[in-house]
Amino acid sequence: MQNPKRYLITAALPYANGLKHVGHLAGAYIPADIYARYLRAQERDVVFVCGSDEHGTAIPIQARKEGTTAQAIIDKYHEAMQQDFADLAIQFDIYHRTSAPLHHETASAFFTQLEKAGELETKETEQFYDPEAQSFLADRYIKGICPACQSDRAYGDQCESCGRSLSPEELLRPVSTLSGATPIKKKTTHWYLPLGKHEDFLRKWILETHETDWRPAVVGQCKGWIDGGLQSRAVTRDLDWGVQVPLPQANGKVLYVWFDAPIGYISATKQWAKEHGKDWDPYWKDAETKLVHFIGKDNIVFHCIIFPVMLKLGGYILPDNVPSNEFLNLEGDKMSTSRNWKLDMRDYIDDFVKKENGGGQVVDMLRYYLTQIAPETKDSEFTWKGFQDAVNSELVAVLGNFVNRTWVLMHKLCKGKVPPFHPARADEYDRALTEQIRSTTETVTQHLERYQFREALFAVIDLARHGNQYMQRKEPWIVAKRLEQEPEAQQAIDNCLHLCLQLSANLAILGNPFLPNTTKTLCHLMKVVDRMLEWKNAGRIDLLKVGYSLREPQLLFRKIEDTEIETQLEKLKANLMSTETPAPAEQPAAKPTIQFDDFAKVELKVGTIVAAEKVEKADKLLKLSVDLGSETRTIVSGIAMHYAPQDILGKQVTVVTNLAPRKMRGIESNGMILMAEDRSGKLHFVHPDSSVEPGSGIS
Ligand code: MF3
Ligand code: ZN
Repeated sequence: MQNPKRYLITAALPYANGLKHVGHLAGAYIPADIYARYLRAQERDVVFVCGSDEHGTAIPIQARKEGTTAQAIIDKYHEAMQQDFADLAIQFDIYHRTSAPLHHETASAFFTQLEKAGELETKETEQFYDPEAQSFLADRYIKGICPACQSDRAYGDQCESCGRSLSPEELLRPVSTLSGATPIKKKTTHWYLPLGKHEDFLRKWILETHETDWRPAVVGQCKGWIDGGLQSRAVTRDLDWGVQVPLPQANGKVLYVWFDAPIGYISATKQWAKEHGKDWDPYWKDAETKLVHFIGKDNIVFHCIIFPVMLKLGGYILPDNVPSNEFLNLEGDKMSTSRNWKLDMRDYIDDFVKKENGGGQVVDMLRYYLTQIAPETKDSEFTWKGFQDAVNSELVAVLGNFVNRTWVLMHKLCKGKVPPFHPARADEYDRALTEQIRSTTETVTQHLERYQFREALFAVIDLARHGNQYMQRKEPWIVAKRLEQEPEAQQAIDNCLHLCLQLSANLAILGNPFLPNTTKTLCHLMKVVDRMLEWKNAGRIDLLKVGYSLREPQLLFRKIEDTEIETQLEKLKANLMSTETPAPAEQPAAKPTIQFDDFAKVELKVGTIVAAEKVEKADKLLKLSVDLGSETRTIVSGIAMHYAPQDILGKQVTVVTNLAPRKMRGIESNGMILMAEDRSGKLHFVHPDSSVEPGSGIS
């Protein structure tokens, strides 16, 4: 869409069931934020909406895990996510939440509209039901043994051990996680959106209209869905958490989270309009609005097939583009919450941003690296080494270095003022650099228009690289040595620094969508106000006035030290270890039978805890010294949430003594302490019913 009247930018509403990691950030929030900042710099009419997705089974499940209520969970994570986004300079125009009454009204009215228009069908099916808890069971509420890997960490939707996706029917020995009862099948009625009816519309709209302007992976997935035959999708669920289905016969049923969540974009816009005295309607109903959804690839079907059908039926506009990203891996492995193999936004904020005065530069470092490795066309990988390299060899050595040299030399050779440019002395290098500034502006703009954020950022850094090369050729510090014999050499120095300063101003404008904090520092150094940052100023070489005095140099970026990334790598490994201690809570499913020989390989002894201390920066871990008679061993145990160190001295415990040693948080653990886990997930020591000699064998 060329020159739309207004823009509505959305970023996927994150589930309020936990903190979000850098994969989420790179996949949706950073690209959306870059795009919105770019449009704002063009003084476009743009609204960038987001908010917490607070419904679905994920919420009550997390509540059970944390031993609290669903309401407490959404309140906690809504707040935390909002804070984290703000800390990383993701600048939403509104961050709303789907538990808001305005959203409930909007979603429920949307359902009613489709239902009244006869666009929904009802169907009776059999669903799994927990007869003890008297509740239908979402797939995730059913646990059992994985038919593929025999693990007991398999659920009705997926095996947490091997990752295979499952249906509840496939589970061996299924049990309800609500009560431990064996689920039965029970009849229930639900409302469905018949997608099949809209196949022609979808084909035309996606495969004909957007075949070339959408990312190939998005078009490919859509084609797959459409060619595979579009099934009717249930839009209601038997659950007691969500937006009530607004029909008397649907008591106890709620809207399916994927029906209500995208409507959250609309209710967020309404809320924003309300707060700003605007009208929300044109943003969703006027054909001259450009709607763009930023998402990760697991959300494609919802944003390209289901929600568009809903939008069409409701009389709303359709997205102009859905720039979806692939996944971001971490240090050679898939990011995973259950295995704790991830880097949360909050971890980075705590370890880097909060430790630094203001923290702006380290925020931009993360934004830079995540954009540089954005998984725009294929999965990509976050590594701490890669982060360090990106910061040290690009932000520090190229961008930061260029600006610093410019400022230092301008103070030394031009009295701290913007020197004049002497056209008579202009040479081919000056002309080439001027042309580079102009063409980079064009390149960056084109890439941003096409949602190619890595390429756009690359062009910005490349401009700084050209600046460094230019300065290296001109060597004003060498020219300065001739000044005494040849005073007119000052003109060459002036020209060089004049252009370097104009180039810096351009870097501020072009870099602003990506590195907003760096731009702020640059503006401070140049003593200019935000207005200069308007996109239409990019490409100009008269942005800084001759004779204007500028501030003293200030480093834009600091280096990332080896020790910093080593610490992060250790932490990552320790997190992974700490999840290998018993996970809380649900009824364990039975394990397959083993032979006595298998059991006999395990050496068990009674030990006495003689020392205990918390492991630094690991919430769950205690470092214990355990007396085993002939020796005292160091054992790291994941019990810190259950026992205070001072309370367990002298306790007798059961120790697996022939387990291969492993390192946690840099401490070698030699053995494992057996724990009993109760229904609530609390851990208890297992010990002899009267005191025995430390080192006594157990068999
Ligand atoms: N909460 C979903 C997820 O994290 C995304 C919802 S996007 C919306 O995958 F469109 F539904 F809002
Ligand atoms: Zn499995």
